[in-house]
Amino acid sequence: MQYAKLSNGVTIPQIGFGVWQVDEETEAPQAVAEALRVGYRHIDTAAVYKNERGVAKGIRESGVNREDIFLTSKVWNDDIRAGRTKEAFQESLDRLETDYLDLYLIHWPVDGFVDAWKDMIELYEAGKIKAIGVSNFKEHHLDTLAEEGLMTPMINQVELHPQFPQHDLHEYMQDAGIQIEAWSPLMQGKFLEVPVFAEIAEKHGKTPSQVVLRWHLDNGIVALPKSVTPSRIKENFDVFDFQLDADDLEQIDRVATDVRIGPDPDEIDF
Ligand SMILES: NC(=O)c1ccc[n+]([C@@H]2O[C@H](COP(=O)([O-])OP(=O)(O)OC[C@H]3O[C@@H](n4cnc5c(N)ncnc54)[C@H](OP(=O)(O)O)[C@@H]3O)[C@@H](O)[C@H]2O)c1
Repeated sequence: MQYAKLSNGVTIPQIGFGVWQVDEETEAPQAVAEALRVGYRHIDTAAVYKNERGVAKGIRESGVNREDIFLTSKVWNDDIRAGRTKEAFQESLDRLETDYLDLYLIHWPVDGFVDAWKDMIELYEAGKIKAIGVSNFKEHHLDTLAEEGLMTPMINQVELHPQFPQHDLHEYMQDAGIQIEAWSPLMQGKFLEVPVFAEIAEKHGKTPSQVVLRWHLDNGIVALPKSVTPSRIKENFDVFDFQLDADDLEQIDRVATDVRIGPDPDEIDF
């Protein structure tokens, strides 16, 4: 495993297990238990994924100690707009069968995000969350928090992959001491349509998904691959025994089109 260090000294495993679109009852318990069995120690869920109970069940069934797992959840937009961040946090804790989170994030920068951030700072200062952060924040959203004189988020989780590498935002965040986390690190499976990953994979005796995830690691990014397929869960974690060379990185740079797969944070209507 490879770790990144957050601005407050907390360490975070650089590969986390994503569970968006993983069904609470039929998939989450098995997938989470399998991920923990092969070695993942970082799970990324959210209230809106409606699978926190299934994640808790997977953790329980795995036998891995809660304190050995880096667990993330996120406050959903409706709760941010309604000023319910603290209540939503407690509801997530209850569903996750835990009394603290390693990381809690503002899911999207919707109206009310500054007040939500103030609530999160209070939860952090009360010791209920090890690290706090935001998700889908652009530079101007981060600027707003700074202009309000509020604590700098420790993490910003954004869409990021070779097609959409977010160089400018990443540079801004490095200067501000904010760790970048990649959602849809595997381009929601579309990496399979890009031949260069297979070519580089063959050279290293690895697979295309491993090349994409290695690109994230080599760039200092925390990546959250999702899979409900046991062989892929294992494959996506087997990325710590090789490195990409300058030629590989140059070829992967050419994949960038700067086209998002997911929504633009300035244009969301949910
Ligand atoms: N903060 C946010 O707003 C936000 C938004 C989106 C996502 N996220 C987080 O980021 C995580 C990852 O993003 P994501 O779920 O959108 O997409 P992803 O991890 O980029 O891709 C997942 C897709 O790729 C497939 N896949 C996984 N490993 C594979 C492999 N080795 N070979 C071939 N196909 C493979 C999966 O299929 P199977 O599952 O069928 O194996 C699934 O269809 C989410 O689960 C969530 O935790 C956060």
